[in-house]
Amino acid sequence: MLDPSMEPDQLAEKQRGLAGSRQNHPFKEILYRLRDPGLVADTVMRSAAEAWHVISPSEFSGLYRQVRSHTMCSPARLGTLHQGVKYVVHNRLEGDLVECGCARGGSAALMALTLRQLGESRNLWLFDTFEGLPAPTADDPDYEIAELFTGSCRGQLDEVREFFRRHEVAEGVQFVKGLFQDTLPLSPIDRIALLHIDGDWYESVRVCLESLYDKVVPGGIIQFDDYGYWKGARKAVDEFLAQRGIRLPLKRLDYSGRSLLKPRA
Ligand SMILES: C[S@@+](CC[C@H](N)C(=O)[O-])C[C@H]1O[C@@H](n2cnc3c(N)ncnc32)[C@H](O)[C@@H]1O
Repeated sequence: MLDPSMEPDQLAEKQRGLAGSRQNHPFKEILYRLRDPGLVADTVMRSAAEAWHVISPSEFSGLYRQVRSHTMCSPARLGTLHQGVKYVVHNRLEGDLVECGCARGGSAALMALTLRQLGESRNLWLFDTFEGLPAPTADDPDYEIAELFTGSCRGQLDEVREFFRRHEVAEGVQFVKGLFQDTLPLSPIDRIALLHIDGDWYESVRVCLESLYDKVVPGGIIQFDDYGYWKGARKAVDEFLAQRGIRLPLKRLDYSGRSLLKPRA
């Protein structure tokens, strides 16, 4: 906020500073990301896929068009979530669907729409601050860029609820507001068939795995949205799997997304 009691030159300087920080934010990130040719190539492919799904007659594209304005996830990652829900239903895996990090609700609504298309009803748990991203910590190796995003990716709870109502998929959806660190350990979830972790930072991803990994049923799926994009997210996954002695391959979905299938035995 600008303080009206400031001297005119102080005010001008503050305004320059605010404008500067707004402009530097994406610019600083773009410079950082451009150093990775893999991401540049992925961005081109993602744009082509986004354009294709706007006109494609496929079943997935139809669902994608309903959620695309409310999601930051790529079509490739949304596509594997869609397939994941179908796999869980067709294989009659027991358990709920859980998303940690739903923001404006797009990827979660895609799961709900897929359930409806299959004529299936299951609990869908959505965890979020609904106040945007918390601050990253020193455990995030790209902290300098990550901290610019504190408070961003905000989805307001009322608006997300309304989005689900509008699409007539609100039944069975449990919205849990608060930090994962506070809400996950207390959540009364018994079994999880599909877990989507989309919390960006080290601590956020780590607490999801600590609290929920053991609840994922054999044959269940865990999808990580940020493994390739945020170094803290990757570190949390790699550390957790190593510390538990879990040697399961992570499937590459695109530059950022990975998924893991929990063995049946
Ligand atoms: C990238 S957004 C999720 C994008 C969403 N899945 C979509 O379809 O666009 C990340 C979300 O994770 C939430 N988040 C990250 N860390 C969190 C934490 N520790 N506790 C609660 N919410 C968290 C943020 O509030 C934000 O809404």
